[in-house]
Amino acid sequence: MDHKTPAELLEMNKKWAAERLANDSEFFTSLVNVQTPDYLWIGCSDSRVPANEIVGLKSGEMFVHRNIANVVPHSDLNCLSVIQYAVEALEVSHIIVAGHYGCGGIKAAMDRTDHGEIDNWLAHIKDIYRQNYGEISAIDGRDKQADRLCELNVATQVRNVAKTVVVQKAWENGRSLKVHGWVYHLDDGILQDLKVGVDACDQLHTVFQIKNKS
Ligand code: CO
Repeated sequence: MDHKTPAELLEMNKKWAAERLANDSEFFTSLVNVQTPDYLWIGCSDSRVPANEIVGLKSGEMFVHRNIANVVPHSDLNCLSVIQYAVEALEVSHIIVAGHYGCGGIKAAMDRTDHGEIDNWLAHIKDIYRQNYGEISAIDGRDKQADRLCELNVATQVRNVAKTVVVQKAWENGRSLKVHGWVYHLDDGILQDLKVGVDACDQLHTVFQIKNKS
């Protein structure tokens, strides 16, 4: 891998900006005052899964939140704030939770090594591992087990997005808003729909359905 210095990054940025302008003289000015993305992407921080790039979307077209192993904890102010802003202010129509096979966060959650502080974060994934321990343990091979946990994690986080007050309120107000669960293959660059999407309150267990929200 070719390692660049920060000074080289600033030089590359100048080149990038010049190229954008050469293709479209209003590339930046059209984006200065407004962003109207249709999508919120919640993905892994992994450097090999650059959100906009892998779906071919440009600046201004996708609002992005990334953390280790694309987790949506019920009380994570960071993630919840992103969801609220995306739904209420930007009025996105789609929220995509995107996991990826070969995820280091998922693998770390499966082993019993002491990773320090991050183990508290990974405990969210250990919960899913524990809940599905029988199914995952029956799979042959550690990598395949991790891939299955990756899928189950996406499905869980899709539902966690749907459980938020913000998303349920949008549905109650008649908004068209769909939460999707996708997984990315590092080896061929293909994104796959896991078909675990949610687009209405009644698809959640009654325990999580919030009534009279407005
Ligand atoms: Co990852």
